Amino acid sequence: MKPPSALCSLNHAERGRLRGVDGRSRFGAPTSTLLHVIFTCPHGPGSQSPAAPLKGGGAGTGPPGSLRAGTAVAPASCSCAVVAMEDSWSERFHTVSPLLRSWALSQMVGTDVFLKCENMQPMGSFKIRGIGHFCQEVARKGCRHLVCSSGGNAGLAAAYSARKLGLPATIVLPEATAPQVVRRLQGEGAEVLLAGKVWDDANLQAQTLAQRDGWVYVSPFDHPLIWEGHSSLVWELHAALGTPPGAVVLAVGGGGLLAGVSAGLLEVGWQHVPIIAMETCGAHCFHAALEAGRLVTLPDITSVATSLGAKTATAQALVCAQQSTILSRVVQDAEAVSAVQRFLDDERMLVEPACGAALAAIYSGLLGQLQAEGRLSPSLASVVVIVCGGNNIDSRQLQSLQTQLGQT
Ligand SMILES: Cc1ncc(COP(=O)(O)O)c(C=O)c1O
Repeated sequence: MKPPSALCSLNHAERGRLRGVDGRSRFGAPTSTLLHVIFTCPHGPGSQSPAAPLKGGGAGTGPPGSLRAGTAVAPASCSCAVVAMEDSWSERFHTVSPLLRSWALSQMVGTDVFLKCENMQPMGSFKIRGIGHFCQEVARKGCRHLVCSSGGNAGLAAAYSARKLGLPATIVLPEATAPQVVRRLQGEGAEVLLAGKVWDDANLQAQTLAQRDGWVYVSPFDHPLIWEGHSSLVWELHAALGTPPGAVVLAVGGGGLLAGVSAGLLEVGWQHVPIIAMETCGAHCFHAALEAGRLVTLPDITSVATSLGAKTATAQALVCAQQSTILSRVVQDAEAVSAVQRFLDDERMLVEPACGAALAAIYSGLLGQLQAEGRLSPSLASVVVIVCGGNNIDSRQLQSLQTQLGQT
């Protein structure tokens, strides 16, 4: 393999040699995508890119055919035009999301808090990582129509992927879905069906439709390809941070993000990093499952964090609890919504209550409590918060949630 410093000047044949056995990189992306990843960091000639993933295959930290971290030095010939050209060949639908240090949250925790800004992904959430990867794989195998059940974000990711793949998509959502989400889905060219009170009802409808010839059901969280796609997030953290954080904070709905992050931590050798798994009361199926030691189906979803509204978690979430250190915590809706408001003031980013659940780990002082209880190290190297999404919210909705929860 060429050293990273030479990648920019590779010709087509040389790029071909970087491909894996099936000619594709880890997440179904052709090698051109890989080159794009390498040069999405500083573009200046000779600049250091600590986040440069290389194609593994043989010796190295990643398994054969995977991405692994390295250091790239962009040669004098590197230019943004090259990057743009490579990007247009890319089949990978997600972007390498920004990792930003939050001054306000770092002050609160007393160590560096990094925000993994998945709200800046195409379609506004991390879902595009796993669902994009899943859709690409099934399209390659001959799928003719995608059908996805969703609380919003998974459907947006599926509709976007379908449009990119030139496939029709049907997205089935609960009846109370916000009109702007429906319009956005229709804007992506998807057919939208509203069915039932909560996601589980819509999901039954989607599974029935998926029995049609050539149709493929897209689960919002429950498939190995989805977890594999989500795990790309951890590879990006590994490349950007170099050293393991003291904890990763994320929100749990059906547990797909948790499964992807847990898998990613194992892959990069960070399995000792604790995951703080946050849910809201009324959408706490994972916490209930951990307590019971088996999957639990909640009687109803009563939380305002509708994106977390699966009544039953994926079985893989319980597998994750065996392979990773998971600290599961449940916050009240009021804490999640208050975290949304405070994050808006601190970072000028409006995120949805599902994401507020993750942020509440910090704003509600849970992280400090976990440290005081000895469950987390008192001297954390850093903390990563996955800012999972910001679709199901706007300023009016935030105000009305605050009124509903007695916060105004
Ligand atoms: C913004 C946001 N955060 C978190 C989650 C939870 O993800 P998962 O269902 O994979 O646990 C979702 C699920 O839709 C979501 O939309």
